[in-house]
Amino acid sequence: MLALSTLLLLVPSVLSAPLFGINLDDFFDKPADSTTKDSPAISLDDVKSTLLRPAQFARAAYCSTKSLTSWTCGEPCKSLGKVNFLQSGGDEGLVPLYFIAHDPTDNAIVVSHEGTDSKNIVSIINDVKFTMADLNATRFPQFATLGVKVHSGFQDTFERTADGLLAGVLKALESTGVKKVSVTGHSLGAAVGTMTGLWLKQKVDPSVKVTVAGFGLPRGGNQAWADLLDKEVGVTFMTNQNDPVPTVPPLFLGFQHPQGEIHITDDSQKNFIKCAGQDNENCATGNSLLSVSVSNHKGPYFEGISFGHSACPEGRA
Ligand SMILES: *[C@@H]1O[C@H](CO)[C@@H](O)[C@H](O)[C@H]1NC(C)=O
Repeated sequence: MLALSTLLLLVPSVLSAPLFGINLDDFFDKPADSTTKDSPAISLDDVKSTLLRPAQFARAAYCSTKSLTSWTCGEPCKSLGKVNFLQSGGDEGLVPLYFIAHDPTDNAIVVSHEGTDSKNIVSIINDVKFTMADLNATRFPQFATLGVKVHSGFQDTFERTADGLLAGVLKALESTGVKKVSVTGHSLGAAVGTMTGLWLKQKVDPSVKVTVAGFGLPRGGNQAWADLLDKEVGVTFMTNQNDPVPTVPPLFLGFQHPQGEIHITDDSQKNFIKCAGQDNENCATGNSLLSVSVSNHKGPYFEGISFGHSACPEGRA
């Protein structure tokens, strides 16, 4: 009896402990992961047909510029086969790396943004100083009246490489004659990728198709931002089981995901559900913060693909 009452006394304090600035009590009525009418299963083949190369490119972005330039980044490079590396930017430090390549397999120009390791992404997202900022109205004047707000840290990161990146993509499109741009990234790289996708969409010839894929995407902005991405870009993003990153910053602070989530429901790397609408409760949004798994952020997602520096030969932290 003593043990039970002690336990009961402990429960409320455990439950009210804020995790990532979120009160766990807010998450109790969420259903467990399940396949339902609005979140049907999709096959590994379907996932691979649209997301395999984006996942492989997002993994390679964690490797050093040197190993990417010579396309000797170990398994991340090998798995992609023949790729023509074109340009990189960022400084592998404060400004995360991105690279541009021509992918003959997909007949696309690929822009891949480096992410950040799990510990850092949680601190970036939960930084007490974080604020929502207006979407840069100089860069996106056509959307200036929509009330779009984005995570200021993500926008700052995007701004540091946006102009050089656009110049590189325009040059690559011209020299190859390719009609598709595929933007990809994991974690912070996925968040920046959504902004890159929107930006490129405004700047490339309308005959060029721009697609954006993300893995472990955190929420990047408000409802107007999510709606703008749905209308202008059409993001596809994968969330893995109990990864906390896609659930922050939280909905109650006004953050919102776009549509296009594909949720991984177990460790088999074979079971996925396609989530209808924005922030579908059967997917990452419905996760209980009592069973958070930061290692789910890294992966594996499918085909043994995990994200982070450890996949690269230099094995940076
Ligand atoms: C907004 O975008 C312009 C380029 O269009 C850039 O020069 C400026 O630095 C950006 N502002 C901020 C606050 O990032």
